[in-house]
Amino acid sequence: MGNATDAPGFIVCVVGARPNYMKMAPLLQAFSAQPGLPRAVLVHTGQHYDPMMNDRLFSDLKLPRPDINLEVGSATHAVQTAEVMRRFEPVLDELLPVCVVVVGDINSTLACSVVAAKKGVPVAHVEAGLRSFDRSMPEEINRVVTDQLSSLLYTTEESAHANLAREGIPSERIAFVGNVMIDSLHSHRARAVPPEATFARAQWRGAPGPFGVVTLHRPSNVDQPQTLAECLDIVREVARRVPLVCALHPRTMANIASFGLAGKLTSERVLVLPPQGYLEMLGLMSAAAVVLTDSGGMQEETTALGVPCLTMRDNTERPITVEQGTNTVVGRDRGRILGLVGEILEHGGKRGRTPELWDGHAAERIAAHLSRWIAARPVPARI
Ligand code: UD1
Repeated sequence: MGNATDAPGFIVCVVGARPNYMKMAPLLQAFSAQPGLPRAVLVHTGQHYDPMMNDRLFSDLKLPRPDINLEVGSATHAVQTAEVMRRFEPVLDELLPVCVVVVGDINSTLACSVVAAKKGVPVAHVEAGLRSFDRSMPEEINRVVTDQLSSLLYTTEESAHANLAREGIPSERIAFVGNVMIDSLHSHRARAVPPEATFARAQWRGAPGPFGVVTLHRPSNVDQPQTLAECLDIVREVARRVPLVCALHPRTMANIASFGLAGKLTSERVLVLPPQGYLEMLGLMSAAAVVLTDSGGMQEETTALGVPCLTMRDNTERPITVEQGTNTVVGRDRGRILGLVGEILEHGGKRGRTPELWDGHAAERIAAHLSRWIAARPVPARI
């Protein structure tokens, strides 16, 4: 990747799975434009590998091809994490980077942070400090450990600062910079694919008027037959009020098939699609009357777009989307969901405001901060 300056060394930037890509794309752009920063090397762990989970988003977001692909693929959490660590270590030995930049909360985020921290390479964590306080979520464990190991913690919302302070992280390491995912949303919104084009491609005529968007992939919702059936029954009932477009993760698709639940979504008012490209999803979300999801990122994107979001989880690590945005945490409470959908269809639902610093310039702030931090830092001893 090109760079504005010829500062020595490298910054290693890590991505692994779909929700990382929209966070890393603006960072790479801002790093290459920032004087005083070393060259960014993009490492893909290969956690996500399907064309629709991976390649498609790279091209939509204009992400450069990764310099290095570790090709770990799917496995149990322990094996996947261990395999990323094993394959990432030689990359650091060869490049001796000035720092490693990780984003979000996936297994790759945790694995690369552990390897870097043990080698004495500083870790910068973008989207630090978010907490669901639910350790049954693999992402929560990834967040807590990554933050403990990070030298620089870049936050998206004020709640993160109290969380990090409670966990003993010194405030000098933390910088409130805003939300890089919203940078991507601003950059690409004008290129969003109109929903009509997505519907026409799928030959669906079910939504001449308002429609809703559904995504579900959390293990807590889709890995057990009974909970997945409960979710699909809710989707089916909501579809009686408003036609729904369901863009489903391969894990969800596979479980629907293996649990014999496909019939629950058979309706003219439900369009089931595979994972969509970034621009298709942006088009669908922007025009939706309501979004039902268990995704972390979509809670924030809907808040930025001003579209009501019903989060089918028992908690959120992104409380600002509830306090200031358009998000409501509803679990699998069918009565509450149907009530809120009715309210949204009749009166438009919750109207939020855009949180502070979700302004499309978070990546630039990180690049400037990182550049100052690197310049001020004594040359470290290597372990
Ligand atoms: C991961 C992240 C999650 C994020 C999600 C977005 C962790 C712990 N979880 O979950 O935070 O919200 O990505 O999608 O890192 N699979 C495919 N094709 C792929 C990738 C996965 O079919 O390209 C299937 C495989 O059956 C795999 C399963 O999905 O076993 C789980 O994939 P994995 O990457 O381990 O976690 P996600 O559930 O995608």
